[in-house]
Amino acid sequence: MIFEQIATGGCQSYLLGCDDSHSAILIDPNIAQMDRYLGFAAKDGVRIRYVLDTHTHADHFSAAKELGKTLGVPVVASKLSPAPYADFRLDDGEILRVGNMRLRALHTPGHTRDSMCILAEDRIFTGDTLLIGGTGRTDLPTGDPDQLYDSLFGRVLKQDPALLVYPAHDYKGRSHSSIGEEIANNPRLQKRDRAEFIAMMKQLNLDAPTHLTEALRTNMSGGKTVAQLLSEASAHVPFVSMAELAERVGRNDLGLILLDVREKDAFVSGHIPGAQHLPRGQLELRVNKELPDPTRRILVACEFGQISTLAAATLRELGYVNAAALDGGMKAWREAGHPVTVL
Ligand SMILES: [Fe+2]
Repeated sequence: MIFEQIATGGCQSYLLGCDDSHSAILIDPNIAQMDRYLGFAAKDGVRIRYVLDTHTHADHFSAAKELGKTLGVPVVASKLSPAPYADFRLDDGEILRVGNMRLRALHTPGHTRDSMCILAEDRIFTGDTLLIGGTGRTDLPTGDPDQLYDSLFGRVLKQDPALLVYPAHDYKGRSHSSIGEEIANNPRLQKRDRAEFIAMMKQLNLDAPTHLTEALRTNMSGGKTVAQLLSEASAHVPFVSMAELAERVGRNDLGLILLDVREKDAFVSGHIPGAQHLPRGQLELRVNKELPDPTRRILVACEFGQISTLAAATLRELGYVNAAALDGGMKAWREAGHPVTVL
């Protein structure tokens, strides 16, 4: 078996390849590491045939949809997954063949309703059902400690004790453990009585994960994160440095249309000398009147340098081939002590 464990902070992703066919599957990919997974696949000489999520993640952004689309391969998830982009849904006990490897899905609800573990030869990918020295939490949407009890004590822990456990998370830099080690040492598994286990899970009082709403929104719908939207926009937009703009302002000749896309109040209270005002919210409505020449060089500015990127991308899409965005925003401009016009 060709095997890579790729960590992003505490999130663990796995690339699993068949030695004979060089077909591979990517388990629990994270959007931040997309290029890295492709790099690993190239290094290992495997072709990713499937992308799989063990469950709907609430703490990171899944790359499953994006990679499935990029690679033209199915996104595998549990039959109970709410993700509309999951196009290969595994039922409990079903086997997915990846080259000559056989991966068996074990439905293990509890951390989420759609949680599953994947058995592959000598190892089990436990998602957030079983962690090293812990278990997944059950207080997030669709979590259920009663179901987790059944999934752990009735299913996962009944597997071969020698099976290697590879979880979806580990925050202490550990790579894996085994079912036997977890039965013996995992503090949460020492509560073997159902009622005691449930009471313990209900008393954990954990902080909500960062980006919870955005992670659930994007992972359940296949929609984009704000960071993705910005990164896609910036891939199609050239940037102009604040130093260059300051120099143009200094010689009193901008030589371009400087477009401030903030709201009116912000513009009135201070803008870069010579800037023209066209709020982002009215861009498409007023663009024909305000910017009649699509060949003019347009430099878009906003408060933090993010909305201006989106606005510049929109302008380029509309045919303003020379639209660019300021690398930075008004906040940085003011802090650098550059001149400001107040109306
Ligand atoms: Fe999770």
